[in-house]
Amino acid sequence: MIGYILFTVAAFLPLLIYLRNPYFLADLNYAIVAIRIGWRLSKIKKKFFSILDAFLDKVNKDPEKTFVIFEERSYSYGWADRESNRIARALSAHAGLKEGDTAALFLANEPHFIWVWLALAKLGCVASLLNCNIRSKSLLHCFSCCDAKVLILGADLKEAVEEILPGLKELGIRVFVLSNHSDIEGIESLSDKIEKASDQPLSPQLRANTNLKSPAAYIYTSGTTGLPKAAVVNHERVWVASSLLSFAGVHSSDVLYLYLPLYHSSGFLMGLCGAIDKGITVVLRQKFSVSNFWKDCRKHNVTIFQYIGEIMRYLCNTPKKDNDKDHKVRLAIGNGIRPDTWADFQERFGNIGILECYGATESNIGFFNYVGKAGAIGREHFLYKLSCPYALIRYDTEKEEPVRNSKGFCIEVPKGETGLLVAKIKERTPFYGYAKNKQQTEKKKLRDVFERGDLYFNSGDLLRIDHEGFIYFQDRIGDTFRWKGENVATTEVADHLLAMDFVDEANVYGVRVPGHEGRIGMAALKLKENMDFDCEAMYQHVKNYLPSYARPRFIRIQDAVEVNGTYKQLKVKLTNESFNPEIIMDPLFFLEDGKGYVPMTPEIFTAITVGKIKL
Ligand SMILES: *[C@@H]1O[C@H](CO)[C@@H](O)[C@H](O)[C@H]1NC(C)=O
Ligand SMILES: *[C@@H]1O[C@H](CO)[C@@H](O)[C@H](O)[C@H]1NC(C)=O
Ligand SMILES: *[C@@H]1O[C@H](CO)[C@@H](O)[C@H](O)[C@H]1NC(C)=O
Ligand SMILES: *[C@@H]1O[C@H](CO)[C@@H](O)[C@H](O)[C@H]1NC(C)=O
Repeated sequence: MIGYILFTVAAFLPLLIYLRNPYFLADLNYAIVAIRIGWRLSKIKKKFFSILDAFLDKVNKDPEKTFVIFEERSYSYGWADRESNRIARALSAHAGLKEGDTAALFLANEPHFIWVWLALAKLGCVASLLNCNIRSKSLLHCFSCCDAKVLILGADLKEAVEEILPGLKELGIRVFVLSNHSDIEGIESLSDKIEKASDQPLSPQLRANTNLKSPAAYIYTSGTTGLPKAAVVNHERVWVASSLLSFAGVHSSDVLYLYLPLYHSSGFLMGLCGAIDKGITVVLRQKFSVSNFWKDCRKHNVTIFQYIGEIMRYLCNTPKKDNDKDHKVRLAIGNGIRPDTWADFQERFGNIGILECYGATESNIGFFNYVGKAGAIGREHFLYKLSCPYALIRYDTEKEEPVRNSKGFCIEVPKGETGLLVAKIKERTPFYGYAKNKQQTEKKKLRDVFERGDLYFNSGDLLRIDHEGFIYFQDRIGDTFRWKGENVATTEVADHLLAMDFVDEANVYGVRVPGHEGRIGMAALKLKENMDFDCEAMYQHVKNYLPSYARPRFIRIQDAVEVNGTYKQLKVKLTNESFNPEIIMDPLFFLEDGKGYVPMTPEIFTAITVGKIKL
């Protein structure tokens, strides 16, 4: 009898569990991996071990293993180790770098980015990873946030640095270029010095005082307003971010295709550092190329790649081919893919797992959708919530602030409703903020959320959690929008527009475009009296000073800023009116690729909405 009952229970238990929660196994698996990773992090906490140590481990175990493939060359772990020894010695001898110093890297995606970063780590130095698209005032600003002593730049970026040399000189910064000679005063050559240096290992004593809380890198973000900010990434954070590849079930035989910029945290922390942790091969590309994507994947037996939503759409938009499913890719990790693209992609290119993630460089919270449910950015898990308490709170989009109850506390939204994501700041989920920017750091903190004296990180993102616990991204608040996977700070763009002598006021915002993720840049300008909008001058200016993703693609000229609404109401209205010439009676301009600002027409509008003009 008892045997019979046990048998019945054993037979039906899985069914019962499944009926109650069809994701039971995925949830269980998540819990097991999370506990394993937590255990490992606690070990690293006891006895400090950096991502550089993980690299050196791989070098010891298998020096011949291919580490990086770039263009037609491949470099082994052993080779990378020796090359970074040389660079470290050259930098120590000629730039006087030592433990605790910061050096800024201004390099495109190329192997030297990795070698120089490893070299800095070997000296116990902090790498400040500058965005190689930024120029002039922004570049100088980024540079001055991190107190770097030295700037190391790629030979192809000399011109951008020449422009700010006087400013760098004022800050007393040594500038080195990765080439054999330099004919510019104030820029010293580095490659010749590297060539002459020894490749013998450096003593770990050089970095003896580095610990889990020491900064490992500065990574720039345009999280909310103004100029880019340097998020402080310490060694603990490096480990947390790079463990994503463990969650994804990556093993040492995998090959990662990496074309995302190494100066962002997805490419650098999750991609590169994650790859080093797993000891895998990285196929590095300077930039994404839709025509070479699958060719590269086939040629190098790529098994994993990282994406941003746009990339997946570009891939789906290419003409179908017979060999679409002929590759070894098994997993795509990234964020921002839309549900329809998700389905298209899998149908077209085969059974590739998609791991959609959510997080930000500086944030103390992240999610990923380990179940693979199309459209969700993550899934709630009680274990995660226990270790990283977070909540979605009611938010007033007009006033741009959280709604508070009569006692002054925030209100958690019920399941299914959209709310602002906030995450508790505490010992285990710290928020380190931005280097030398107390004001912006404070702006990301929210106090007295659920009780007096508590402290939360304000993500600035509106999310929704459904009844099954899946998390969906809804929108981003405040003065940023996302386009082509990059955050654009509206105030920074407005500052650049205001530099034109005919612009009196500038209001920058992002507008949605059918069939595209994120929002594209648009500006409403009020011109100075008796001045005209100079298309050519404006085009030259935005081209010179703003990376392509931040340039306003649409500009509308307003006679006056409406007076009755608040500034914020105005922005909501402008955003809603978008760039439709049928609705907007003001003069309206469109930034045509390679041509400049041209008057907007209904034909252009239609071509954009049906996707004939690619933005
Ligand atoms: C520098 O010169 C050496 C030969 O002396 C050459 O092998 C190397 O490729 C050169 N490096 C650069 C960056 O031009
Ligand atoms: C890719 O895999 C195939 C078959 O598994 C193998 O023959 C080929 O050598 C591999 N190519 C590379 C670049 O590893
Ligand atoms: C401002 O006033 C005008 C006319 O009185 C009205 O049509 C418009 O809706 C008002 N705008 C706002 C944002 O209240
Ligand atoms: C935008 O305008 C349309 C009418 O054109 C209106 O139905 C809609 O509610 C508006 N949305 C917002 C967010 O104001």
